[in-house]
Amino acid sequence: MGEIEQVEMIKLAERFVKEELSGEASGHDWWHIERVRNTALDIAEKEHADAIVCELAALLHDVADEKLNESKEAGLDKVHSWLQEHTSDRGLIEQVMDIISTMSFNGGQNPPMKTLEGQVVQDADRLDALGAIGIARTFVYSGAKGRIIHDPGLSHEVLAQEDYRSSNKTAIYHFYEKLLKLKDLMNTPYARELAEQRHAFMELYLQQFYSEWKVREDQDA
Ligand code: ADP
Ligand code: NI
Repeated sequence: MGEIEQVEMIKLAERFVKEELSGEASGHDWWHIERVRNTALDIAEKEHADAIVCELAALLHDVADEKLNESKEAGLDKVHSWLQEHTSDRGLIEQVMDIISTMSFNGGQNPPMKTLEGQVVQDADRLDALGAIGIARTFVYSGAKGRIIHDPGLSHEVLAQEDYRSSNKTAIYHFYEKLLKLKDLMNTPYARELAEQRHAFMELYLQQFYSEWKVREDQDA
């Protein structure tokens, strides 16, 4: 594929994704995709990964999300059809499909990504769940589900327990269930550096959060 064809394909992918995700307000809006794409390109450059594979996979990674489709398979078929219509490069199609079908968090239980490009895109997606933006996305997601911010009856020691499960999860619980674990799951050294900064910011945020909460408790007492 020539460079002009690549540029054109990326533009069309962007248009496709914008249409697919329009009106999606649960944290998968276009700007999430745009951030993941930019971060992926950034990491790809530092880690010498194939930029076009990373960019295309980043753009398409949430189109197949289970939450937006009848099933994961239906979502993946949609992306596969789109790719087949827009490139004859079978290697590229295979690489992108492999990445987006295997990169979800799944409680951290999925096997490690096989290719450097997969590792890059997964890192970029995970980085968007961290830091100031990650915090914002968590509260938006939680609010959309009708959940409360925090329940002080659940101490953070309780929240940190692996086996704590509740149908009434709070937004703060999500930090312990997922966000604070992501730093150690980063694949590439550069992404780990970025993750450490964002992780530190979340720790600081939680510290401030609990200190404010405590002040009110003291006043009420
Ligand atoms: P992605 O693969 O793009 O990170 P997810 O569907 O896993 O997408 O999550 C979208 C956003 O919503 C992320 O920022 C994630 O941390 C947040 N989120 C997912 N599940 C929860 C939850 N149970 N409570 C609060 N936030 C959540
Ligand atoms: Ni995503």
